[in-house]
Amino acid sequence: MTEAMDAEFDTVAEWTAQVALDLGPDYYVPAGCRGSGSPAALDWLIEQLELTSRDVLLDCGAGVGGPAAYAAQAVSLNPVLVEPEAGACRAARTLFGFPVVQAVGSALPLADASVDAAWALGVLCTTPRQVELLTEMRRTVRPPGRIALLAFVAREPLQTRQPEGNHFPTRERLVELIADAGLRMREWRSTADLPSIPTEWSDRVDAVTDALAERHAASEAWELAESQSKRIADLLEEGAVTGEMVVLRHA
Ligand SMILES: C[S@@+](CC[C@H](N)C(=O)[O-])C[C@H]1O[C@@H](n2cnc3c(N)ncnc32)[C@H](O)[C@@H]1O
Repeated sequence: MTEAMDAEFDTVAEWTAQVALDLGPDYYVPAGCRGSGSPAALDWLIEQLELTSRDVLLDCGAGVGGPAAYAAQAVSLNPVLVEPEAGACRAARTLFGFPVVQAVGSALPLADASVDAAWALGVLCTTPRQVELLTEMRRTVRPPGRIALLAFVAREPLQTRQPEGNHFPTRERLVELIADAGLRMREWRSTADLPSIPTEWSDRVDAVTDALAERHAASEAWELAESQSKRIADLLEEGAVTGEMVVLRHA
């Protein structure tokens, strides 16, 4: 992990939990989803994965745990979180009390076929070990292999414009990775086609961001994390990178 990624996924993750605790329980899930999840995206993924209260859902690269908490609230399922950054693991435990295992997605410390479904949201582009991550998700999810990704995908190879530590696959490469991992595509939807984010939700996210900036703007970690997110936001805004949700099954 690069210094900028450590700042964003470790230090700022932990600060985010502290801010959410201070703002109150209504802020926990929006704060925990600052990484990538929006209500419409999560609703679509929950529906496509046919998640129910009987399911154990693996959230691979869970960050602060907001998406897992959203799913737990929506359908009363049991999430298991895997996340490599210690600060994010502590943040998810503090805010939501979920079981969190500190590990990378390419070496999941879980038994074969031990969960009902899995998702990795905004995670694939953060690791060079992409086929290994997908192969591990395939191994740990029991048949038929209900797996979903929210993947940030490059329209063309980004070459030197790739933000440090990121590895955005092209659309073609994502299709290859899925096949190489022994998975098949069932549904594909771009996040650009989703309904907009409710104001109540974005107001809470903004309040968390404002409080983080107020407390930490002078720190190097905040500057690094902000400049990394801005580079990615710029690529998304100009369409060089897009958010794609894919729903998979075992091949
Ligand atoms: C953009 S954040 C998304 C967090 C969360 N999934 C969400 O949607 O809010 C990416 C997360 O992936 C984690 N990550 C980075 N490399 C990883 C790897 N090799 N395996 C699993 N997670 C990883 C980071 O620590 C970070 O928490």
